[in-house]
Amino acid sequence: MSATAQVKRITVPEIAARKGKEPVSILTAYTVSMARLLDQHVDMLLVGDSLGMVLYGLDSTLPVTLDMMIAHGAAVVRGSSRAGVVVDLPWATYQESREQAFRAAARVLAETGCAAVKLEGGEEMAETVDFLVRRGIPVMGHVGLTPQAVNALGGYRARGRSDAEQHKILGDARAIAEAGAFSIVIEGVVEPLARQITESVSAVTIGIGASAACDGQVLVSDDLLGLFGAFTPKFVKRYAELGPLVEEAARAYTADVRSRAFPGPEHVFQPKK
Ligand code: KIV
Repeated sequence: MSATAQVKRITVPEIAARKGKEPVSILTAYTVSMARLLDQHVDMLLVGDSLGMVLYGLDSTLPVTLDMMIAHGAAVVRGSSRAGVVVDLPWATYQESREQAFRAAARVLAETGCAAVKLEGGEEMAETVDFLVRRGIPVMGHVGLTPQAVNALGGYRARGRSDAEQHKILGDARAIAEAGAFSIVIEGVVEPLARQITESVSAVTIGIGASAACDGQVLVSDDLLGLFGAFTPKFVKRYAELGPLVEEAARAYTADVRSRAFPGPEHVFQPKK
């Protein structure tokens, strides 16, 4: 039996069956090392296009390319064996037509080995979701605050505070669920709306800044670990402060290098006696 055949990953149908049951835990991962650390502790790893801001220092997710997502997606699949892996389709690789979306999603699945793709948008994307799902591509939707639409939304503020916005986002979630998405990320919406969506769609809802009313949660790992910037969004709980630990390790290393305390005898190769 090959090593690949021994891997038992959490599957998309297993996640879909969690609707209304034990909440689903998802964290972002972009690298082999982070995937290895998180793999045994979460249900899914999301290779989010947030990597554009977190790893590459970009101002938004818009410049992220399909090649970037595929490279990081493949790394996360290589670094994990248990968690299901879902990879974001980046901006402008799926909105033009359902055929364009199929080509992008097919590359992501074939070249990374991930289980599903995630795409942003509501009613306008329902036909595309249906097209992908009918062709064997599991889709996670993403509604509410959709970062790829930052220019149209005018920023990253929470959504669903007006009746009109609530009505629109609920319609978006229903359309994506009816089109066959197995799961939908609900980002940055008021709690009553997240609850209403969760109660009215068959897809597993995954909240980020959308309250515990959802069927599961996702966070950006670097936020949860205190690795990304001093500002903590309201919806993030920091479970660790790794930033100062990294800085302290770098400071101690440089002090050792400058005083020649590193490398010590135990780190040095000697000729055979
Ligand atoms: O890109 C990402 O990391 C995401 C999550 C924040 C849901 O889409």
